[in-house]
Amino acid sequence: MNYKLWLAEQLATQLEGVEMDAIAELIEYPPNPQMGDLSLPCFKLSKQLRKAPQAIAEELKSKFQGHSAIERVDAVSGYFNVYLNPAQFASDIVTEVLTKGDRYGSQTIGQGRSVVIDFSSPNIAKTFHIGHLRSTVIGNALYKIFEFLGYKSVGVNHLGDWGTQFGKLIVAYKLWGNKDAIEAEGIDELQRIYVKFHDESDVKPELEDEARAWFVKLEQGDAEAHELWRWFVDISLKEFHKMYDLLNVKFDSYAGESFYNDKMAAVLDELKAKQMLEEDQGALLVRLDDYNMPPALMVKKDGGTLYHTRDVTAAIYRKNTYDFEKAVYVTDAGQSLHFNQWFKVIELMGYDWAKQLQHVPFGKVSLEGAKLSTRKGNVIHLEELLGKAIEKTREIIEEKNPNMENKDEVARQVGVGAIIFNDLSNNRIKDIVFSWEEALNFEGETGPYVQYTHARACSVLRKAGVDHAALDAAAVKAEHLTNPEAQGVVRELYLFKERVEQAMHKLEPSIVSRYLVDLAQSFNRFYHECPILVDDEAVRGARLALVRSVTITLKNGLALIGLDAPEKI
Ligand code: ARG
Repeated sequence: MNYKLWLAEQLATQLEGVEMDAIAELIEYPPNPQMGDLSLPCFKLSKQLRKAPQAIAEELKSKFQGHSAIERVDAVSGYFNVYLNPAQFASDIVTEVLTKGDRYGSQTIGQGRSVVIDFSSPNIAKTFHIGHLRSTVIGNALYKIFEFLGYKSVGVNHLGDWGTQFGKLIVAYKLWGNKDAIEAEGIDELQRIYVKFHDESDVKPELEDEARAWFVKLEQGDAEAHELWRWFVDISLKEFHKMYDLLNVKFDSYAGESFYNDKMAAVLDELKAKQMLEEDQGALLVRLDDYNMPPALMVKKDGGTLYHTRDVTAAIYRKNTYDFEKAVYVTDAGQSLHFNQWFKVIELMGYDWAKQLQHVPFGKVSLEGAKLSTRKGNVIHLEELLGKAIEKTREIIEEKNPNMENKDEVARQVGVGAIIFNDLSNNRIKDIVFSWEEALNFEGETGPYVQYTHARACSVLRKAGVDHAALDAAAVKAEHLTNPEAQGVVRELYLFKERVEQAMHKLEPSIVSRYLVDLAQSFNRFYHECPILVDDEAVRGARLALVRSVTITLKNGLALIGLDAPEKI
């Protein structure tokens, strides 16, 4: 049962003129159970109701109708506190978790609606770096969270497979490229000649003109240019797929920037017809002065199209194809202006769904103060990062559990889990200073800690010979789950649903990762204080049901942020 909503509904009948939703917003979960399980801070209503907080709390207390789920209520220092009946609370929650299983925490609020999530979207011929990792793990988590809440998620990888950089790459390849080296080294070699192009063009600016000319050829369908481009794309995709396989991330569409080549003319015509395009020294742009933004450049003077043109075209295409209720774009905060500009263009075109477009920015990743830039080649390779994490996990397994069966798979699950979780452990907007030490730290509030807690709980169930499917919720004697440690776990289990919903509303997967640490910690306290495999069958049964509820919830939560939950580590 949703205690918060239930309580808000009750209180709404007592508090005149205050809506149930507003009350639900105010209800808190006190950090210390002595202050109740739920609490309404009445001072927040004091102005509206023209009454002293304590008087509001007292009145609520005197009028409160009993309920079997509630043990007592109290009015203390302007708070109206509600104490749940611990046995009923435990029975209620454990029953729900056990019966819902891998659907525990899921909801149907998104039914019949779709959300397009544009994420990862690396650039062809450029290293898949730690900034793309952030977009990938945040976007993937949002994808799963929306899906869990009943939405149809559509994951789009808007590959950076078009743009002037391909002109540069073609020039670089023709001057210094070596086919075999590129076949062998892949993106690293493409990157090397791309960086060389920039170094050389600093002193030989005519290279830039050549590159521009090649890109125009590419846009006009020149066969040689097209063949080289296709090759660069294939080489790059092969490497990206390796990353996605390791991370276990999937997309519904790989329609990158080039996909819109034959769709931009119609959009440009539409912009013209709507009298939105202005010519400026041969280029075409949409003025945004009235909105305090620089103009959005749509066509360059050489006829080439831009990042903006492709994003506007892609959004219209996606609206028509997926009929989304929301379309989110997960990139670093540095691209905010770009998104604000073209969101405005869509709005000015008269599309009311412009308000359904949302940029989901995240903080920059820096390395010891230096900004990560692909152009200078100063990047942390994701492949290296994941490789190191997996290797480190493998060493730990060899040391602690050398006889484990599927070592390679578990090393991948935990090593990659550490990296993903580390990325999601702070609010996304926070800038990150990358440190190898932190990324590879498995102690404390980390992914491996949560995964290990899950495995430990699984091992208790194994030792008890509990057949997972056979745990009968109805037979659980919840009066044995009323001690503070068990109640601590029950409270966390209860919060899962609410946290997932919050994560969706705020587009903030870190709410789920932090929740998982809280749940793991509450379980570990319970585990240390309460022996589980005791002789008393009723106590043992109740505790095992709680342990099982923890494994279910940890696993569901880990899956939402893209982590596996191995049963043995
Ligand atoms: N390729 C871009 C980059 O790596 C990100 C693309 C984001 N998606 C979009 N529709 N603009 O910076």
